Amino acid sequence: MFIALEGGDGAGKSTQLPLLQEWFEKQGKTVTICREPGSTPLGEKVRDLLLFQRGLEICRMSELLLFMTARAQVVRQVIRPALERDEVVLADRFLLSSIVYQGYGGELEVEEIRKIGQIATGGTLPELNIILDLPLTYAKMRRKGEPDRLESEADAFHDRVRNGFLTEARLFPEKNVVVSAEDSVERIHAEICRAIQERL
Ligand code: TYD
Repeated sequence: MFIALEGGDGAGKSTQLPLLQEWFEKQGKTVTICREPGSTPLGEKVRDLLLFQRGLEICRMSELLLFMTARAQVVRQVIRPALERDEVVLADRFLLSSIVYQGYGGELEVEEIRKIGQIATGGTLPELNIILDLPLTYAKMRRKGEPDRLESEADAFHDRVRNGFLTEARLFPEKNVVVSAEDSVERIHAEICRAIQERL
């Protein structure tokens, strides 16, 4: 089973991911967690390039292809081997983030991103995207530390990102479920588990 946790910055994915892992482990499943970009030596290098190299000029298309590079690697090095061992794979972001951040946010052509994503992943895609949804004002309050390159984008960008997640969920309801992140940690966790039980 392959599930991705998605949503805007500050929506609480990093709090929910270990809770979800524990929930699956209590059911006797082995869980592999990966984050994007990252989770492989190449992915971590790409992550550093993409998020923390201040002053390095990266155009939107290069940005997209770098995210896709990290994704191509994690699919082959981590995700497929885990799925072959019959494990549950939980991804902290996956292709939907590229569609929404570089497409809706960065205004690259969404249909082109889908095609590139299909090629990069070779069709290894999550059965379900869980989208944690939070209004922008809350999300900003929750963010911690120095903002990375994408977090530093203008509010209008993050507005388009939020709307992008909601639009994609409406377009592809069988692949996406939206969970309101304006709730307690326990209630959000319960809602995520319910969605998984219902869908998968
Ligand atoms: P990360 O530190 O993982 O942020 P978060 O905890 O919010 O997930 O940084 C990932 C950043 O990269 C985040 O701002 C979203 C962005 N991103 C894209 O723009 N496109 C992508 O394809 C992915 C995977 C992430």
